[in-house]
Amino acid sequence: MKILAFESSCDETAAAVIEDGRKICSNIINSQAEEHALYGGVVPEIASRGHVEAISAVAHAAVREAGMAFADVDAIAATCAPGLIGALLVGANYAKSLAWSLHKPFIPVHHIRGHIAANLLAFPELEPPFLCLSASGGSSMLVLVHDYTDMEIIGGTRDDAAGEAFDKVARVLGVGYPGGPKIDQLARGGDDTAYALPHSHVDGAPLDFSFSGLKTAVINLAHHAEQKGEPLDKRNLAACFQRAVSETLVPRLKLAAEQTGVHTLVAAGGVAANSRLRADLECMARELGAPIYMPPLHLCGDNAAMIGAQAYYEYLAGNTGTIWQNAFATAEIQEKICQKHGIAKKYAKR
Ligand code: KG4
Repeated sequence: MKILAFESSCDETAAAVIEDGRKICSNIINSQAEEHALYGGVVPEIASRGHVEAISAVAHAAVREAGMAFADVDAIAATCAPGLIGALLVGANYAKSLAWSLHKPFIPVHHIRGHIAANLLAFPELEPPFLCLSASGGSSMLVLVHDYTDMEIIGGTRDDAAGEAFDKVARVLGVGYPGGPKIDQLARGGDDTAYALPHSHVDGAPLDFSFSGLKTAVINLAHHAEQKGEPLDKRNLAACFQRAVSETLVPRLKLAAEQTGVHTLVAAGGVAANSRLRADLECMARELGAPIYMPPLHLCGDNAAMIGAQAYYEYLAGNTGTIWQNAFATAEIQEKICQKHGIAKKYAKR
């Protein structure tokens, strides 16, 4: 089964053709990062307009690169939650219209389920159940993946997402946007013991964590140094920050494995591209004697291939939507987001 999938939840307009949830036939990504870099972060209105401009070209490129025509695809999928609502609506409506006009099924996909499914593309042998650390710009959580479409959040951030903290710290250190890759680069060769940074602890919820205290500590250090005219070693501070993020996430994934007895470990999301986090995860998994799966770097960030992978399993589970499908700025990973009925009911009565 070949699915044409779309992703437009933030600042990437992406389309891909995926076969049977596991094989990438094409994977096109148009990033708007350069435009948003001017403002130091994503401007939602600009993102929506960027998607409108790019989506048709990206869709055509995806089918062309897969050696197909639109009529040859078996179903159309799109990210419908969570994300920037204006941005989501562009991809969801384009995909829905295409599905409607081609008489193909439409499959709405949860963005974070998609991030997790990036691993299914990279690792043919990977099957649920597994434990996933999902860390991206909008959310950070520990997910117990019982089955391809049955997921449970067992821990997560009480405030900021890991990616949000990376982006904020990068802005304060003046290294630019997007912050994650810049901090990763800056931290290379830095002394990760040079600055003492706080590590969060949530009473009674050992799998939960927080990044706001860490973020504030870095901001305060930078501001104090500036006010006093003292030198700030940005390289060392970036290394210390990265270490603190990793030391927040990695032990919790380990504890989750011990508590649940699920010893197949997975990482997902943009922050899973972080070199320090990847090294620490590998080390922890080795100690635990557990396999760890991490997407290749090009599948960590937002892309439509991961949406096509997850869409296949949503389709098998009967989770298709209709022309009445809406998009949602927020939705939990365990929620069913597909909508079969809509406003048509109201008009059918007239
Ligand atoms: O998963 P993603 O592409 O988009 C969302 O679904 O949110 O994640 C984007 C986040 C950004 O905050 C970005 O700074 C972060 O992932 N990121 C990284 C790295 N590459 C991207 N964070 C740390 N280290 C990286 N190498």
